[in-house]
Amino acid sequence: MSLKKIKVFAPASVSNVGPGFDMMGFALNKPGDEIEIILNGGSEIKIKKISGDNSVLPYYIDKNTATVAIQSLLKKYNIKTGLDIVINKKMGIGSGLGSSAASAVAGVFAVNKLLNLKLSKYELLEHAIAGEFIASKGIHADNVAPCLFGGFVLIRGYDPIDIVQLDYPKNLYCSIVYPDIEIKTCDARAILDKNVPLKTAIAQAGNASGLVAGLLTKNFDLISRSIVDHLAEPKRAQLIPCYNEIREAALSNGALNCNISGSGPSMFAFSISKDKAQKIGRAMLRSVVKGGLKGRIYVSKINDKGPVVLK
Ligand code: HSE
Repeated sequence: MSLKKIKVFAPASVSNVGPGFDMMGFALNKPGDEIEIILNGGSEIKIKKISGDNSVLPYYIDKNTATVAIQSLLKKYNIKTGLDIVINKKMGIGSGLGSSAASAVAGVFAVNKLLNLKLSKYELLEHAIAGEFIASKGIHADNVAPCLFGGFVLIRGYDPIDIVQLDYPKNLYCSIVYPDIEIKTCDARAILDKNVPLKTAIAQAGNASGLVAGLLTKNFDLISRSIVDHLAEPKRAQLIPCYNEIREAALSNGALNCNISGSGPSMFAFSISKDKAQKIGRAMLRSVVKGGLKGRIYVSKINDKGPVVLK
């Protein structure tokens, strides 16, 4: 049975998670984006309204991550249909919380349901990645994959894409602070070294493996000491005002560890109780405010559902 319209939610996500540059990420319960798609009976795809974006996102369908992802999907399956699209952004653009990925995932997830295509999440993934590419100018799935599949995701490889859903301790809480500045992922990628010394590659692989092992065996000490990034953090920390103060606030309030969420400016910290996670979040926010910026916090467990139909 085909529907006429649908509204979906797709979650924010934390990518990189310290040592997992371009290869690890997890979904959050909040924030997230909402997209409503209506079959318009014609043949054109139109973005009718975007809210919550401070008027910065493009209505041009070849530039918006949601509509690029949708067009990629429709083209592959040779489907011609007209759609009216309403996008409600519920997280900052360039926040490091996978905002562009959430819109891309919401778009393809909604179209799959709306047109009753019955495509698997694996089949949707390549189109969400195509949407994300428009924003970050890089092929990386460490936001779209956790957003689409839910949970904690490892991208074992890209050619072909190989997604591994990792088990994780269910009492792991994440505190996020989002300092209210924008960092464009493409800019934050441009400053990274294209080659790394062997010693650095070994250190990164050791920490990434340690994080996976720590998650699977619920070894919090191992998780804590593995959240170290030798690739992106050394270059990107300087883009985040009061980076050291925010991190110190998280650690001195009992966080397992703290690092940059995606390409920043948001930062995440893990802990193992809701009370502690809230306390850590408040301490991180105080450092942001002390540094003269506005900010907001989110406290969430890892979201194991991914996108959902709202109506
Ligand atoms: N892995 C990507 C990066 C995530 O750090 O550039 C961007 O959100």
